[in-house]
Amino acid sequence: MSTANTSLMTASATSVVGLQWGDEGKGKIVHALADTHDVVVRYNGGANAGHSVVVKGERFALHLIPSGILHRQTTCIVGNGVVVDPGWLIKEIDGLAGRGVPCDNLFLSDRAHLVMPWHKVEDELREKWLSASSGEPIGTTKRGIGPCYADKALRSTAVRMGELKNLSELEAKIRRVAPLKQAMLGALAAGCGEPAPKVDAGEIMEHCRQWQTRLSSRITDTAGMLQGLLGQGKKVLFEGANATMLDVDHGSYPFVTSSSTVALGAPLGAGVPMQCVGKVLGVMKAYSTRVGGGAMPTELVGSPETEALGEKIRQRGREFGTTTGRPRRVGWLDLCVVRYSAALNGCTGLCVMLLDVLEGLPELKVCTGYQTPEGPANKLVPDAAWMAAAKPVYRTLEGWSGDISGARKMSDLPTAARRYLDLITETVGVPLAMVSIGPGREATIEV
Ligand code: IMO
Ligand code: MG
Repeated sequence: MSTANTSLMTASATSVVGLQWGDEGKGKIVHALADTHDVVVRYNGGANAGHSVVVKGERFALHLIPSGILHRQTTCIVGNGVVVDPGWLIKEIDGLAGRGVPCDNLFLSDRAHLVMPWHKVEDELREKWLSASSGEPIGTTKRGIGPCYADKALRSTAVRMGELKNLSELEAKIRRVAPLKQAMLGALAAGCGEPAPKVDAGEIMEHCRQWQTRLSSRITDTAGMLQGLLGQGKKVLFEGANATMLDVDHGSYPFVTSSSTVALGAPLGAGVPMQCVGKVLGVMKAYSTRVGGGAMPTELVGSPETEALGEKIRQRGREFGTTTGRPRRVGWLDLCVVRYSAALNGCTGLCVMLLDVLEGLPELKVCTGYQTPEGPANKLVPDAAWMAAAKPVYRTLEGWSGDISGARKMSDLPTAARRYLDLITETVGVPLAMVSIGPGREATIEV
């Protein structure tokens, strides 16, 4: 029996993670790094992610498929930690094929969980129930993410990708689970004054048969496959979805997603030893955005002038959700959030994205601490109630004007932009790896 060469595995892989509330530009970074990697792996989340890649002016929005797919030679893996909506995945594969991107090298973990139709209905109803019962909705993407991870933990009502390979056993399970889901969803619907949704096992099995036909050749033990690839010295890149402030353990709970979004989630959600991750690149926007509910201390709201400024950044940064089209909430850069996230992930380098969006603002504010009911604080407490009560303490920096999208090295940037970046690296304590000044691959400064 051959054994893996563990020395080749040690510290050879890189993780890319979001340091704020998502949409930091992870897709662009992963696509750029895929040039020098053999494998790109998604390890968490599902179709709640929306990763954009712009190639020669053409924009691709990826939700479940790793952002390395646009490189034909790259192996792309959807790991065990991902929750997969098979219908959505097939649409994504077909959409890419229609644009000349074959997904020949895409593999799916047999241990990844399936987002079933009942999960999406439950996600929607739970949000309605929160509103109807005077709770605050989480503002989910309604992609069934939370209910699917909940079933994964419950076990008895979950379905995994590998089960598509044995349809008769799967049918028996679906026929067993469907009445339970019907009853549960009916009770939830009654709680918000909605009619009971119908769970039709026969219809769901029809979907399963289609999913099996389209996907079964890609379903495999991707953990074993990855261990083998690492043992051969292949370069692996982990593509984090969602972001640190949305991590189920370490984010602004309960306004988070349901998976381990942080770099630590990568070995777990891919099935590889933790020693294989050597570099962790933290991706951050030059300002803050958030979609959905929950506090965001630096949000630009409150007065018409502040809101106009937020709207200006929203328009310039195209801050509308890739997944749901929702306008994103916009705010000044919160360096306490970034410092908290960088420390938690063990970041070895920072990628600062969308710096070009801030061009033309006479002054820029950066949050370096908070005023809280208990007094001043320079550390973030990742708790929704604490964050809602925290008022940002800002440092004000001079802005710059003029198009910076042509800059290719740090010295091409205006002094004020370099000062802004210096404040980030000094406060966070992690060196810069990349600065992005436009959507295309070329609009990047590699440091
Ligand atoms: P990418 O990978 C931004 C947010 C949702 C909601 C909360 C929970 O593109 O950065 P969920 O559907 O996961 O149960 O929603 O998390 N959210 C994201 N926001 N970017 C994402 O992913 C997100 N994934 C989840 O808006 O507030
Ligand atoms: Mg996104």
